[in-house]
Amino acid sequence: VGSSCSVRGSDELAEELEKLIDREQVRDRVELVGSFCMNECSKGISVQVDEVLFRELHPQDAESLFYHQVMPRLTTEVP
Ligand code: FES
Repeated sequence: VGSSCSVRGSDELAEELEKLIDREQVRDRVELVGSFCMNECSKGISVQVDEVLFRELHPQDAESLFYHQVMPRLTTEVP
């Protein structure tokens, strides 16, 4: 929710991630929360998945981020 990321479309990116969470029915396993500035403002939208920070994202990167970085973490989780 930092202003630089917001200007670059972080709200749109978050909305797309919400849709993907619903599409894949993983709402009970994925927590999507807003974050204040991650001090990477010059590099585009920043998103952290677990402990890994992704920079230079655009709203259209939501699907790639979700299927390459979020879903694999769910399938490899130890119950
Ligand atoms: S506002 Fe997003 S990293 Fe600073």
